[in-house]
Amino acid sequence: MNLKTIEEMEITHSKKNIHESSGMNARDFAQLKKRHISFKFDQNKQFSVDLSKNMNQACLFWKYLPPKMITKTKLSGFSRKSQKEKRQIIAKECLGDLNRFSEFEQFHFSDADLQQRIERFSENTLTNHVLPFGVIPNVVIDGKRYHVPAAIEESSVIAAASKAASFWDDRGGFKTIKHNNLKNGQVYFEWNDDVNWLLVNQQNLFQFLTQKVKSLLVNTEKRGGGIHHFEIEQLHDLSASTIKLTVFVNTVDSMGANFINSMLESMANSMEEFALNNGKAKPEIIMSILSNFTPQNFVTIEARTSIDTLTWDKTMKPRDFAEKFVKAVRIADVDVSRAVTHNKGIMNGSDAVILATGNDFRAAEAAVHAYAARSGRYRSLSSAGIDGDEFWMQLTLPIALGTVGGVTKLHPTAAMAFEMLGNPSAHELMKVTAAAGLANNFAAVASLITTGIQKGHMKLHLDNILAAENANKEQRLAAKAFFKDKTVSVNAVRDFMKEFRELV
Ligand code: MEV
Repeated sequence: MNLKTIEEMEITHSKKNIHESSGMNARDFAQLKKRHISFKFDQNKQFSVDLSKNMNQACLFWKYLPPKMITKTKLSGFSRKSQKEKRQIIAKECLGDLNRFSEFEQFHFSDADLQQRIERFSENTLTNHVLPFGVIPNVVIDGKRYHVPAAIEESSVIAAASKAASFWDDRGGFKTIKHNNLKNGQVYFEWNDDVNWLLVNQQNLFQFLTQKVKSLLVNTEKRGGGIHHFEIEQLHDLSASTIKLTVFVNTVDSMGANFINSMLESMANSMEEFALNNGKAKPEIIMSILSNFTPQNFVTIEARTSIDTLTWDKTMKPRDFAEKFVKAVRIADVDVSRAVTHNKGIMNGSDAVILATGNDFRAAEAAVHAYAARSGRYRSLSSAGIDGDEFWMQLTLPIALGTVGGVTKLHPTAAMAFEMLGNPSAHELMKVTAAAGLANNFAAVASLITTGIQKGHMKLHLDNILAAENANKEQRLAAKAFFKDKTVSVNAVRDFMKEFRELV
């Protein structure tokens, strides 16, 4: 059935008829009436067959529509319009008034060159989308102190990370205990000949392909990287002849997506030559692409201190705190409901650094969650334990970050973020990103096992509500004093503001 919109359907039967003939229940029908949807069945164009049958379909169709389906004009050739036209079209289509197009421009940089640079990062750009760019001070890693740039919209993430970073700064900071720097990508193909021959001769294939992409490797090799090794396997779940060729590479400081993909495509293009040179049938290339699953590209960092220094919460004895903390992390390791939230708390800090440095947070998210589920069960990314008198906590972050390439140096605040970090290597950036994650994780779990997180959240939530209410300094101070021992909610703050404004 090709129904463009509900409004396009013309009804020739009465609504009562639809109800009866469609089998639609009375409640749905009442809603249909409430939403003033008029069915228009055009018998000549859209429905040439039995009308009552089509009505059944139409009513079914309606039932599966999201509530309040908004119909918009199909925009064709949109990408070729000028930017002003794009803003005007979207203002008219989505904001209901063409003249509102200039509202998009209020978020622009005044520097036209800079604005253009940002716009070119993507397509169909209407304006800039801003996020607070903040700092997590005092993140000590391997004896070096960083003030870490972080971009995030969620209140309390930076506050929590800062509190934890400062706490660990006083206890020796975070330490790297393991790291590795190997990315990977695959060429998937059908080997249309003797698969055993291919497996036996795999080293020849690897050498042949390495030779073929030699010119592409020059820059990476100059920086100390290059192809590390190959692996080949049959995807038996599909068929014995469906082959996965994995290339492991060190891309040094670049995230390396473009380099890896170009190299893989070039290898794929040489597969036919390899087969023909060896008198084998032409293979069928299915696809070549880097993998965002990067368990060989990771950093593991640790925070460790003697238990008696775990004075995070004044109301809890350090050993009780340590034991409860370890138990909470173990819960995240064995229970998926908790694991997802626990890992989200880690990514609060890590994503904020990834975003601030113009790195690909989607790749990082995909990578960490696949890693968390690598055993077949989704588990905590961090672990914690007690060794005698010592408490420790560790986080492994298997992500691919870059400090060169992409938008890292083109994006103005990302460039500033790199400068703030002292222009780190990719490995150093991974450590910083992991430390921000571990700091957030520590703060979250520490709050959860003591006061709960709402106390801290609500303080910041109050700030946000007051800002939305345009509270002045006097009103903010009064509200903070008033809500010190009360539950914060949007309505409660609004009521308070109303009364306060009436009184003063
Ligand atoms: C909120 O953004 C993150 C937390 O839920 C993380 C956690 O529960 O560990 C506080």
